Amino acid sequence: MTTPKKLFIKTYGCQMNVYDSERMVEALGGEGYVETKTADDADMILLNTCHIREKAAEKVYSELGRLKPLKALNPDLKIGVAGCVAQAEGEEIMRRQPAVDLVVGPQSYHRLPQMEAKVRKGETALDTDFPEEDKFEHLKSRPQTKRAPAAFLTVQEGCDKFCAFCVVPYTRGAEVSRPATRVLDEARALVDRGVREVTLLGQNVNAYHGAGPKGDMTLAALVRELAKIDGLDRIRYTTSHPNDMEDDLIAAHGEVEALMPYLHLPVQSGSDHILKRMNRSHTAESYLRLIERIRTARPDILMSGDFIVGFPEESDADFEATMDLVREVRYGYAYSFKYSTRPGTPAAERALIPDDVANDRLQRLQALITQHQKEIQQSMVGRELSVLVEKSGRNPGQMLGKSEYLHAVHIDDAQAQIGDIVPVKVVKSMTNSLTARQIS
Ligand code: 5AD
Ligand code: SF4
Repeated sequence: MTTPKKLFIKTYGCQMNVYDSERMVEALGGEGYVETKTADDADMILLNTCHIREKAAEKVYSELGRLKPLKALNPDLKIGVAGCVAQAEGEEIMRRQPAVDLVVGPQSYHRLPQMEAKVRKGETALDTDFPEEDKFEHLKSRPQTKRAPAAFLTVQEGCDKFCAFCVVPYTRGAEVSRPATRVLDEARALVDRGVREVTLLGQNVNAYHGAGPKGDMTLAALVRELAKIDGLDRIRYTTSHPNDMEDDLIAAHGEVEALMPYLHLPVQSGSDHILKRMNRSHTAESYLRLIERIRTARPDILMSGDFIVGFPEESDADFEATMDLVREVRYGYAYSFKYSTRPGTPAAERALIPDDVANDRLQRLQALITQHQKEIQQSMVGRELSVLVEKSGRNPGQMLGKSEYLHAVHIDDAQAQIGDIVPVKVVKSMTNSLTARQIS
């Protein structure tokens, strides 16, 4: 038997990259690779990268600089860059860092086995095509090993929205939905391997319209079908655009028990002027009314969002409008970012606002979000929740899992095993998690 080669894969950015990394490990599994958790003993290192903000892209180059000396220790080591930096910068990566042997974009990684063979011969390999063929059809079916009880499942990729600040429509391409039948098959296969919760992923997941047995299916229809799978107890989806929150999806939140009461629905700004300049094609008011409708369908739903501060032209009044919107929604989670110029996007041409002003706004917004987050977490104390147990905790007898609202929950003296969904009573709210005891 030949000794397996070792693959180290480091993932940056969003959950879709986490999913893609798993599929890349599986794709190279057929070429005799097993995953290793350290770069030091690897025969192949892949960085699965993110291009969403400047800092994310720069991190990749510093990491490549750190990895380069490993090649002197292991002359057989190959280094590859995958993901959105690969897509956006292509050949430029090899020019900037000659230690890189392979560059593969997010739509081409099913071709990794051929690319690997090429780099083993001492050549370089570059593939940043948006191929005609569907990469999912060309990837081997997922291996039979037992999986963690919660898994990601990509159902849609790409984005046609072209927000003025965002690289995604360029790095991930146009919106494409996977056929519903394939998604359902993959979900069933995951359940067979121990999965009880799936998070459906897409850059614009609620624009999903995949081919089903009786014509195209919406995300709501897909969710309803998935909920029929025996053993699939929890369904989530992310990320959604407000304009694609159709009535049937809102209704599903009130009707489908397996659909968890948590929704990530980025708005980016609370100012109509800035939303217009961002090309968001909705207003602050329409977003707030939408949340009202969602909360009517599912009153306890926990909202999550994304914000950009310091967008070109953002005035004090624009920023205050964002603060007002946050106060009105009260997010259970929210992620805020300082605007970062992305080459090739429409907003890249516009003048930046002073950096100290942007930094100050980011701090204020984050403080407000954190305050709400804490208050909402605190309001869980004394409540009965259900937790999907995902792993053992740090203390003996402690297990760790997620509530229906996606809070991390430590269960002390747990009687539960990994993969169980158990009722708990929350006893304490910590900085980033809840502590609970199991109830029967
Ligand atoms: N600058 C800062 N934040 C950005 N995002 C996307 N593009 C940029 C950018 N150029 C944020 C948005 C998006 C999240 C994934 O990243 O808030 O929802
Ligand atoms: Fe980017 Fe999301 Fe806007 Fe699409 S909808 S362009 S992914 S921010």
